[in-house]
Amino acid sequence: MKTHLQILIIAFWFLFTDAGWAQTPNPSPAQRMKAIVYHEYGSPDVLRLEEVDKPVPLDNQLLIRVRAVSVNPLDWHFMEGTPYLGRPLAFGFLKPTVERLGVDYAGTVEAVGKNITDFKPGDEVFGNHFGAFAEYVVASDKGMALKPANFTFEQAASLPVAALTALQALRDYGKIQPGQKVLINGASGGVGTFAVQIAKTFGAEVTGVCSGRNLELVRSLGADHVIDYTKEDFTQRAERYDLILDNVGNQPLSGFRRVLNPRGIYVGIGGGGVNDSRWTGPLVGVIKMLITKRFTSQELRMMLAEINRKDLTILADLIQAGKMKPVIDKTYPFSQLPEAMRYLEEGHARGKIVLTVGDNIEPLAPGANRAAGPAGTPSPLLIALELIVIPAGVLIVPIIAAFVLNRRFKRGNPDKRGFRWGYYFSIMSIVAGLVLGLLLEAGPTALIVCGLIYALLAWFFAQRRRWAWITLTILSFNPVVWIINAIYLWRRWAEGPVATPAI
Ligand SMILES: NC(=O)c1ccc[n+]([C@@H]2O[C@H](COP(=O)([O-])OP(=O)(O)OC[C@H]3O[C@@H](n4cnc5c(N)ncnc54)[C@H](OP(=O)(O)O)[C@@H]3O)[C@@H](O)[C@H]2O)c1
Repeated sequence: MKTHLQILIIAFWFLFTDAGWAQTPNPSPAQRMKAIVYHEYGSPDVLRLEEVDKPVPLDNQLLIRVRAVSVNPLDWHFMEGTPYLGRPLAFGFLKPTVERLGVDYAGTVEAVGKNITDFKPGDEVFGNHFGAFAEYVVASDKGMALKPANFTFEQAASLPVAALTALQALRDYGKIQPGQKVLINGASGGVGTFAVQIAKTFGAEVTGVCSGRNLELVRSLGADHVIDYTKEDFTQRAERYDLILDNVGNQPLSGFRRVLNPRGIYVGIGGGGVNDSRWTGPLVGVIKMLITKRFTSQELRMMLAEINRKDLTILADLIQAGKMKPVIDKTYPFSQLPEAMRYLEEGHARGKIVLTVGDNIEPLAPGANRAAGPAGTPSPLLIALELIVIPAGVLIVPIIAAFVLNRRFKRGNPDKRGFRWGYYFSIMSIVAGLVLGLLLEAGPTALIVCGLIYALLAWFFAQRRRWAWITLTILSFNPVVWIINAIYLWRRWAEGPVATPAI
């Protein structure tokens, strides 16, 4: 089980390194292949089919001739450079640092490195590796498995990210048990269609939430109950669930908690359509969850799927046993990748969208539906400004204000030591009160009440009321503040009058 911290570390590893993308440099320039490349962020129109070096496997890698790929929301996040916060941190600020795309593939092993023993040339495999939108991909044997014999390449390519996410969300994060009531929000999408079937194999009573046109599909996958979200808000129901898998992230956390049993588990996998969370992605949701979970007996978890052969093999076995089948909405030729991305971006795919990679790859077809797709991307300058202004507003301005107030105090009290941290702590307490008010999701009243309570406590703290200092320290919910206040402020308290924050 991964903690939030581990998830963030994995996400940062994923974002900050190009390990996953690394293709082995090709010593022979004569060997070329076709691959999807993008040199700038934007709509699917930025995708290009270009000739690049054909990769050569290292000793612990395999070379795979790709036969089919599937598209995931992850692909359009990279294509668009969203969330924008990820650009300076990882994707590349003005243009993509790594210009290749795609993760899910199925194909035939063409060559193996000398340390590979479990696979041989000619094996049909499926797996996950960055840069999969190409004729060939090199990958380690850790993120692939043998393709189920009764499966086409297209069916196998639909599995890795979506089905692994569904499996790990329910089994590892959700601790699913037979007989439990499980609600799957977004039951008709890539992850959802696998999740409904996997939850049924665990013996759960499954409720799927989707739009009216998909009710029959979700029922046919085994769901015991279906809810049409266009007609009914499931968070207002009397029914309570033991486990909620949220693939959409369209409801406030308080709504999910309302229909979750007191000891129930909520698993969020991200969510947010192409025009949602473009700035910070799931970061705000994760912070909300980290704070809220301190106040509740319910388990609130976010997850990041981990690609591994063991779980890919479990999925293949489920399919061989006839317990699960992929739902494939559309199958495109590889030359229609832009069209496939556009369709996925609309956020209403029924199951998975796959592409066949034939022997002769045609030039990319111009999209038939160019009007669809994301809202206009703001200029890099605006993105830079926002990314600077927001952290500055929240972090730097209080530091400057604390210095200014401290200087003013020292001018009036030249014989006393300043109290910079005290000022900073007071200001940040009020900010924390406002954030808490926002997180309670109870409208402007909660915001005003929480802000006022914290401001009042900060004022009493400035009047040297020990109870206010202790209360505010505890209510900061911040272990760093607890330690600093315990060591630093306690000592300073004994020294003499505290600077009175002018707030
Ligand atoms: N954390 C991870 O490791 C991980 C892994 C994979 C995916 N994800 C994330 O999980 C999310 C889902 O991925 P996916 O591949 O399943 O996406 P997808 O294939 O695009 O599915 C989207 C589905 O959401 C449904 N939907 C849209 N609005 C809805 C609403 N208001 N209520 C209920 N359902 C709604 C749509 O159903 P209708 O057509 O019926 O509206 C559609 O079937 C994405 O945000 C993706 O980034 C995270």
